[in-house]
Amino acid sequence: MEISCLKSEVSSVETEALVINLFEDVKVPGGATGAIDTVTGGKISRLINSGEISGKKNEITIIHTFGEFKFERIIICGLGKQDKFNYDTVRQIMAITMRQLRKIKVSRVATICHGSGIAGLDPKLCAVAITEGALLGTYQFSKYKSKSTTETIESLQVIENDDQKIQPIKDGINDGLILADSTIIARDLGNEPGNILPPRELADRTKGFSSSIGLDCTILDKSQIQQLGMGGILGVSAGSHEEPRLIVMEHLGNPNSTQKISLCGKGITFDTGGISLKPPLNMGAMKGDMAGAAAVIGAMIAIKKLNLPINVLGVVASAENMPGGGAMRPGDIITMMNGKHVEVDNTDAEGRLVLGDAIEYSKQQGCTSIIDVATLTGAAIVALGNDSAAVMGNNQELIDQLISTSKITGEQYWQLPIFDNYRTQLDSIYADMKNTGGQPAGSITAGKFIQEFVGDTPWIHLDIAGMARLASTKDYKVAGHTGFGVRSLVSLIASLSK
Ligand code: BES
Ligand code: MN
Ligand code: ZN
Repeated sequence: MEISCLKSEVSSVETEALVINLFEDVKVPGGATGAIDTVTGGKISRLINSGEISGKKNEITIIHTFGEFKFERIIICGLGKQDKFNYDTVRQIMAITMRQLRKIKVSRVATICHGSGIAGLDPKLCAVAITEGALLGTYQFSKYKSKSTTETIESLQVIENDDQKIQPIKDGINDGLILADSTIIARDLGNEPGNILPPRELADRTKGFSSSIGLDCTILDKSQIQQLGMGGILGVSAGSHEEPRLIVMEHLGNPNSTQKISLCGKGITFDTGGISLKPPLNMGAMKGDMAGAAAVIGAMIAIKKLNLPINVLGVVASAENMPGGGAMRPGDIITMMNGKHVEVDNTDAEGRLVLGDAIEYSKQQGCTSIIDVATLTGAAIVALGNDSAAVMGNNQELIDQLISTSKITGEQYWQLPIFDNYRTQLDSIYADMKNTGGQPAGSITAGKFIQEFVGDTPWIHLDIAGMARLASTKDYKVAGHTGFGVRSLVSLIASLSK
C-alpha cells in the first residue's frame, strides 16, 4: 500500500472512498465532515437525524455517490465519545475501515487526518497512527495458504489543506511506515512455526534484515557461547538438536556519549517446557516464545532507520527448549556467565536462564541501562490478561517513561512491585538460587531472578506473555502475533535520546 499526503480541499478529492469521521452525539457535523455534508446537500445530517449514523466508536457508514461527486463513496467512521478519543482510536478506526474497504474491493482510498482537526491532536502523531492503523490492520500472514484470495488496497492519501500541517503529516507517514514495517517483521517472526524458525534461522533472518539497512549485527554460535561460559543458554538448549545463538545488534547513534542502552530479548523458538514438559493443551502457542526477541529485533531495525541519536545494543538469546537425552533436568545446577550457580527447579522456567546470560553479556559490553523483554510467565496473563503487559524494575524514572509511551503507542503496561522480600522465594539449599519461586507472585519472582544479573544497573523488565499473540482479531491487532513491544521500545528509546 502506497501512503502519501495530498494537499487539497476535502470536497474536491477524486477517489474511490473518502474517509471522514464523526464523534458520538454530534448532531451538526463540523470540520471536514461538515464540509462534505454541505456539498452533498445535507446527506450526512439527514442520516444522523434519522438515527442511522450515531458516531459510536468503530461504526462505519458507507454512502455511495454514483458519479454525483469525484469521490465515489463517503465513509463515515464513528470516533466514539470525544473525551475518550486518543491516538489509538485513530489507529483502530483506520484498521477497521481499511479492512472493510478491502473486503468490498476498493483499491484507492483517501482520508482526512483524523484527530488533527476538531480534536486538536498533533498532526504528525495522527499521521503516524493513520499509517500504522492502515498497515497493521490489513496485515496478513498468508505464506502457508495455498490460495490467498483477499484483494489489496493500492493507495491511501491523507488529505490536508492547511500548509502548516503538510510537512508534519509527511513526517508522520514516514515514521509510521518505519514503525509498522518493523512491527510486521516482529509479527512475521512470531507467526513462523518452530520447525521453520529455530535459533539459527532467527539469527540468519536478523542478519539479513540488518545488512539490508546497514545495522551492525554479529551472531555468536554454540562454540562462542561456550567460550563465554553462558551456562544458562547452554543448559536450556542442551535437550535440542538445534544449536543456540546469541544475536547482537548495535546502533551507535551518539558516539560521543558513554550512555548505551541494552535491549535484551527472550528468543525461545519453541518452549516444550523441557523435562518439566508442558501439558499438550495450547502448547503450539509456544512457537511464539521468541516474541520478546522479535520485539527487540523490530525495535533495533526501526531505531536504525529513524537514525535515533543514541547508542543501543540489541541482544537476543535464542534457544529451543526440548526434552531429550542431553537435556538439563530438575535438580541440576548450572553456572551462569556471571558465575552464579542456579539450581534448576523447573526446566520450564527457561526464559530467565537465557536472559540472565544476555544481561551479563550486555554489562560486559558496557551497557549503562538494561531493558529486557520476554514472554516470561503465565502468571503475567493471570494477573493482567491480554490488555496490558507487566513492567517492573529498579528505576522508577525508566518505568514511568515506559508507561507514558502508551499515550502515543496504545501499548499498555502496568507496574508490579519488586520488593526485596520476594527474593527469599528463590532461596536454594544447594546453590545461589533456584530458577523458580513457586506459585505465588510468579511474575514478580521471575523478575527477582533477572534482577540478580542486573545488579545496580538501571533496569526495567517487560513481561509480554499476555500481549504477544491474540486468538481473534481486535482492531489493528490481527489474529496471531501482534508485534507487541516494538513501538513502545522505539518510543522509549526516542524519548531517552532527547
Ligand atoms: N514461555 C512460558 C511463559 C508463557 C506462558 C508465555 C503462556 C506465554 C503464554 C515460560 O517459559 C514458562 O513456561 N513459565 C512458567 C514458569 C514456571 C515454571 C515458574 C510458567 O509461567 O508456568
Ligand atoms: Mn517455559
Ligand atoms: Zn518460555
